[in-house]
Amino acid sequence: MTVYVVLSALIVPVLCGSLDPRIEEGYPRGLMSVCPGSTKPAIIPKSQLKYLKFVVQGNGQTRQKYTYWNAKHIASDPRMDFNRKTMLLALGYLDSTNFPISAILANEYEARGYNVIIVDNQRFATVHYYLASRLMRPVGKHVAEVLAQLMSSGLDPSKLELLGFSLGGQTVSYIARNFQTITGKNISKITSLEPSGPCFRTLDPTDRLDASNADFVEVIHTNIDGYGMAARMGHVDFYVNGGEYQPSELLMYPCISTCSHFRVLPLWVSALKNPKQFIALKCNSIQQARDAKCYDRRPLETNVMGLRVNTTNHGIFYLSTSKGYPYYLGRDGLRSEFASWRRITDVNEGNEIEIYTK
Ligand SMILES: *[C@@H]1O[C@H](CO)[C@@H](O)[C@H](O)[C@H]1NC(C)=O
Ligand SMILES: *[C@@H]1O[C@H](CO)[C@@H](O)[C@H](O)[C@H]1NC(C)=O
Repeated sequence: MTVYVVLSALIVPVLCGSLDPRIEEGYPRGLMSVCPGSTKPAIIPKSQLKYLKFVVQGNGQTRQKYTYWNAKHIASDPRMDFNRKTMLLALGYLDSTNFPISAILANEYEARGYNVIIVDNQRFATVHYYLASRLMRPVGKHVAEVLAQLMSSGLDPSKLELLGFSLGGQTVSYIARNFQTITGKNISKITSLEPSGPCFRTLDPTDRLDASNADFVEVIHTNIDGYGMAARMGHVDFYVNGGEYQPSELLMYPCISTCSHFRVLPLWVSALKNPKQFIALKCNSIQQARDAKCYDRRPLETNVMGLRVNTTNHGIFYLSTSKGYPYYLGRDGLRSEFASWRRITDVNEGNEIEIYTK
């Protein structure tokens, strides 16, 4: 008996260790996991608030700019109609409302009948990344003040959504939680496209994006160990092709961190245009999603990335895509032969290697 216990104590760890070598090798800590002072309070002095701006887009892609100080006039802008849905867009690190990302996203929502407001916080997002990540807290607070002010002019929180990309994908969290504090109400939906991991991945859920921030939070992950973040942060989290890296359109070059991080933008645009096609499989864990091992999970449960997302089917979802725009696989995405790794490595599946081994 004693011998048996001793033997199994020796054998069990050896067996388990051999099942998954990563238990021996450890897990990635990620890009800039430790940012000095990232929870230290940051404030924006009153004199600087004029640099917090809001760009309203509508009426055939025309734009009007407001500052924090006159943002209450957004309510009477001819582009605005609070009977419609409103989308507030938060951009990423170093980005500007003059650069293409804001136009690409704003045009899609304008075309779908939304009021569109883009937060112009370039002044605070074009400093050292460590500082920018801290400054998004006061940015979020002051943007929430503006939204609360617009609420008293008819903006309905149940028709208000936030969309953020990268650093903006964390800014939306600070906007939403300050909005909760000021008004006692929830913003209806947050869509976070590749929320930043650097300087955020070690923080508590109370200091970064979290499902508690809004009635519904949808998160899309495309580079979880690099610029993005692996943790589940929403009600529904899509790990696209496992969330680590995206398939490359170029045979000879892999799509590494920057490519995979930005891939979320054309993916989301395609999801807006093809609302039923990005069908994803539910997984039991993020590890299963990374490994594309959700095909045999029973019962088979699916959700669809985009505006038709099922807001009551919460969880972790693996979404396989094709290599090129428009990326979706439809129902093929539920079949294991369409798992992304098979196509990333399809060069390994050919017979070319035989000329070397004969
Ligand atoms: C706000 O949303 C959170 C998370 O979805 C939810 O738990 C909470 O009850 C909501 N609060 C209100 C006032 O609706
Ligand atoms: C949404 O998900 C819930 C829970 O899994 C399910 O009961 C419901 O039928 C789904 N709704 C649609 C429209 O698929």
